Amino acid sequence: MSRSDLSIDEVRKNQSTSREPPRKCGALDIVISRKMFAGVEGPLTVLRDISLTVQPGEFVCIVGGSGCGKTTFLRILAGLETEYEGCVRLDEQQIAGPDLNRGVVFQEHRLLPWLTVRDNVAFGLSRASSPERSGKVQHYLDLVGLRSFEREYPDRLSGGMSQRVAIARALAGCPEVLLLDEPFASLDALTRIRMQEELLRIWQAEQTTVVLVTHDIEEAVYLADRIVVMSPQPGTIRNLLPVDLPRPRERTSTEFSGIRRAVLDELLAHTVV
Ligand SMILES: Nc1ncnc2c1ncn2[C@@H]1O[C@H](COP(=O)(O)OP(=O)(O)OP(=O)(O)O)[C@@H](O)[C@H]1O
Ligand SMILES: [Mg+2]
Repeated sequence: MSRSDLSIDEVRKNQSTSREPPRKCGALDIVISRKMFAGVEGPLTVLRDISLTVQPGEFVCIVGGSGCGKTTFLRILAGLETEYEGCVRLDEQQIAGPDLNRGVVFQEHRLLPWLTVRDNVAFGLSRASSPERSGKVQHYLDLVGLRSFEREYPDRLSGGMSQRVAIARALAGCPEVLLLDEPFASLDALTRIRMQEELLRIWQAEQTTVVLVTHDIEEAVYLADRIVVMSPQPGTIRNLLPVDLPRPRERTSTEFSGIRRAVLDELLAHTVV
C-alpha cells in the first residue's frame, strides 16, 4: 500500500510504532495573494493568487520554469520570506519565521565545513539534552546510511552523501514539514535516482509532510502524491495533477509516461517565449 493510500488515522497509528517519538505531520494552508520584490526596473510581482492546501503526510512536488518563483514560494513556507500579501499557516498557526517544525534542504547542501558530519546534524539541536541530541543524531545518520562517516568533515563526502547529511540535519529537528528546493539538481543521473528512492524510504519511515521543488518532471512523477504546475510572470499555480500510481513506481510504464506527458504539456502551454 502506498502512503497516499493511508488515512490520516492510519498514518498516526503507524507513527506510534516508530523508534523516534511520534512525529506530528503538518498541514499547510497557503494563501499568497501577492509577493513582490524591488527589481532594478521597479517593483516586480513574483507570485500572485496562490492558494494551496497540503494534507498531513502528503508528498507534493512543485514544477515550473526557471524564475517562476518556486524558491520564493518555498522560502515563504520556510519563514525566510515574511513580506508578502496573504497568510501561510502550519497546523492553523501563521508562519512568522524559521522554526525547527519546518526542515529545509537547499540545492547546495550548505553544510558547515568546520564541523564534522555528526556536529552538522546536531547543529540546531542546542536546546536538547546531550543524550537526546546524540540519540537523534545517531537515528538520522542511520536513516541516511552515514553512521560510519559521523567523524568525517564535509569536504571528504561526495555530493550525494552531503545531501544525505543535509536531509538528516533537516530531519533531526523533527519537522512537521520537510521543504526541499531542487535537492538533487547537482547530482549525476544515477545518484539522483538513488537519492529519490532514498528520500521515499525516509518519507515512509519518518512520515512527514514533504514539499519538494524540482525542474525534473520524471522526479516529480516518481515521488509525488500531487504535482503543482506553476507558470511564470507572475508565478502562479496553473494546475494540480494527482499521481495515483502505486509505489514503487515503474518509470517506464505507460501510466507513468502518460502523467509525465501531461505535466510537460501543462508546462509547455504556459511557457513564455
Ligand atoms: N531577493 C530578491 N530580490 C529581487 N528579486 C528577486 C529576489 N529573489 C528572487 N527574485 C526574483 O524573483 C523571481 C523568482 O525567483 P525564484 O528564485 O523564486 O525563481 P525559481 O522559480 O526558483 O527559479 P529557478 O528555477 O531558476 O531556481 C526571479 O525573477 C528573481 O530574479
Ligand atoms: Mg529556485
